[in-house]
Amino acid sequence: MRIILLGAPGSGKGTQSQLLMKSHGVPQISTGDLLREAVAKRTALGLRAKSAMDAGRLVDDATVLGMIRERLTQPDAAEGFILDGFPRNIAQAEALDVLLRELAKPLEAVVLMDLDLKVLFKRLTGRRICEDCGRVFNILTAPPGTPPHCPKCGDSPRLIQRPDDKEEVIGKRLDVYEAQTKPLIEYYEAAGLLRVVNADAPVEAVFANLQAAVGAAAPVTAVD
Ligand code: AP5
Repeated sequence: MRIILLGAPGSGKGTQSQLLMKSHGVPQISTGDLLREAVAKRTALGLRAKSAMDAGRLVDDATVLGMIRERLTQPDAAEGFILDGFPRNIAQAEALDVLLRELAKPLEAVVLMDLDLKVLFKRLTGRRICEDCGRVFNILTAPPGTPPHCPKCGDSPRLIQRPDDKEEVIGKRLDVYEAQTKPLIEYYEAAGLLRVVNADAPVEAVFANLQAAVGAAAPVTAVD
C-alpha cells in the first residue's frame, strides 16, 4: 500500500492512518508528528519549525522535504507507506512525484477525507492527547470516560491540548488548507489517483469506507 491521506486539519487523517497501519502493516508517515517530535526534542529543525506550527502556518518546504526523503528511505517504508499530512501544497506534491519516481515506488491512491468545516472545528477544539503515550481523545466526540481513563496509561491520564488546537490558531490552519492544500484535490484528480471518503461518520464506519476506497492496495489482516 502506498497512499496519501489528504484532508483538512481534524478530518481524521491521523485516526484512520493508525487503523490502516495496524491492518496493512505499513508505517504511517505523518509530517506533523515528525515535526512535533523535533520540537519536543528541541532539535535545530524543531526550533526552526515551532513558530510556524504554533501560528498555524506551514513549515518551509525544504525542511519538510528533507524529513520526508529521510523517512521514506528507511527500511520499514520499503513495502509501503501511508502519508498523513504530506504533501501540503503543489510544490511538495511535485517534489514527492520526483522522489517516488527515483525510488520506483509510485502512489496507488490519494484519499480525500471529506468533512464539513463546522465538524472540523468541533473535532479540533475537542481534541486532547495523553501526554505520556500520545493516544488521541476527543472530549466532545470520544471522551476518555468518567473518571478519565487511558487504555495504556490507566486512570487520571494527563490530557493536554495541542498548542495549534486553540480556537485562534484553528482558523488560520483552515485558511492555509483552503489556500495551499485544497488545490491538491485537482492535482491528484488529474493524475487519476483521487478517491473521496465521507469522513463525517463514526470512526469504524469511516474506516470501512476507507478500506473500500483503497480496495486491493494490500492484503488486509486483523485489526486489534
Ligand atoms: P498536522 O499534525 O499534519 O495537523 P493537521 O493536518 O492539521 O491534522 P490534524 O492532526 O489536526 O488532524 P487529523 O486530520 O489527523 O485528525 P485526527 O485524526 O487527529 O500538522 C500540524 C502542523 O505541522 C501544521 O499546521 C504545519 O505547521 C506543520 N506541518 C505538518 N505537515 C506539514 C507539511 N507537509 N508541510 C509544512 N508544514 C507541515 O482527529 C481530530 C480529532 O477528531 C481527534 O480528537 C479524534 O479523536 C477525532 N476524530 C477523528 N475521527 C473521528 C470521527 N470519525 N468521529 C468523531 N471524532 C473523530
